[in-house]
Amino acid sequence: MEERILTPDELYEDESQLSLRPEYLSQYIGQTDVKENLRIFIEAAKSRNESLDHVLLFGPPGLGKTTLATIIANEMGSNIKTTSGPMIERSGDLAAILSVLQPGDVLFIDEIHRLPKPIEEVLYSAMEDYVLDIVVGKEDAVRSIRVDLAPFTLVGATTRAGDLSAPLRDRFGVLNRLEYYTLEQLTLIVKRTAQVYDMEIEDQAAVELARRSRGTPRIANRLFRRVRDYAQVMGDGTITQEIAKLALDRLNIDELGLDYVDHKFLRGIIERFGGGPCGLEAVSASIAEEPQTLLDVYEPYLLQLGFIKRTPRGRVITPEACEHLGVKYPL
Ligand code: ADE
Repeated sequence: MEERILTPDELYEDESQLSLRPEYLSQYIGQTDVKENLRIFIEAAKSRNESLDHVLLFGPPGLGKTTLATIIANEMGSNIKTTSGPMIERSGDLAAILSVLQPGDVLFIDEIHRLPKPIEEVLYSAMEDYVLDIVVGKEDAVRSIRVDLAPFTLVGATTRAGDLSAPLRDRFGVLNRLEYYTLEQLTLIVKRTAQVYDMEIEDQAAVELARRSRGTPRIANRLFRRVRDYAQVMGDGTITQEIAKLALDRLNIDELGLDYVDHKFLRGIIERFGGGPCGLEAVSASIAEEPQTLLDVYEPYLLQLGFIKRTPRGRVITPEACEHLGVKYPL
């Protein structure tokens, strides 16, 4: 029988193929601008028979950077190799990965801002000219060997584009910032997840889950699994709005999706620093949370909600945050 290649849309229609992470752009909900740009760049590269230019994806965690890297490879019809900044300790580690890439392959480096500087420098020539300059030998006998690489696409992901050195950032041809998802987009993602898990979900339950997922699909999917547990044990298997509310309340996720750490963070600024301004280090020490985690994971959403503000003298609480917490403002 003749082998037939399914287009992404055909694949999507075949529900047995549906997986939790979208595999093609047509299945990916949200990030409309990023998606539309990538669609054009991918189509253009394919029509020229070239590898796609290097892509940098940045934004808060959980918004789909890894998923998009996989989608890029799928759409290009190529393979993906995945690694991360902290995993590459020596330039030999990077050389080993780069030298086995096939033409058109995607190399995904997560947390690329954590690449050690000397390794970053090895990447420059690899990205620009598809060559690897390896220094071998010691002292008087030092020399450099040049190795040709297959044309490849580097997809780098970072939560902090600002931490990337300018020479590295400038070598990416496509820069994409991922944004928090809207309530409507997250509701669609929750419904899609229910389909993948073959669960019935009420419309209002999907909205409830979406509302409490802080604009982040990874959180929506994690909460979905916990709510599903409640529906199976305490209900008849259908995820109703009532079950969703009960489960989310029991998980200490408030109506805006804020959890125990968010509350501790906001209350810390109010109770220990009179509402601010205060430095991030000082708040993090006072509530015993890692400053990096507060910076990367918690702060971006609180800033987006307008619950805290960054000022030159530090973080300050806003009237909106006080209203949400039921605390009088000014403090
Ligand atoms: N699952 C997680 N993120 C998704 C997205 N952006 N679109 C569709 N399904 C998803």
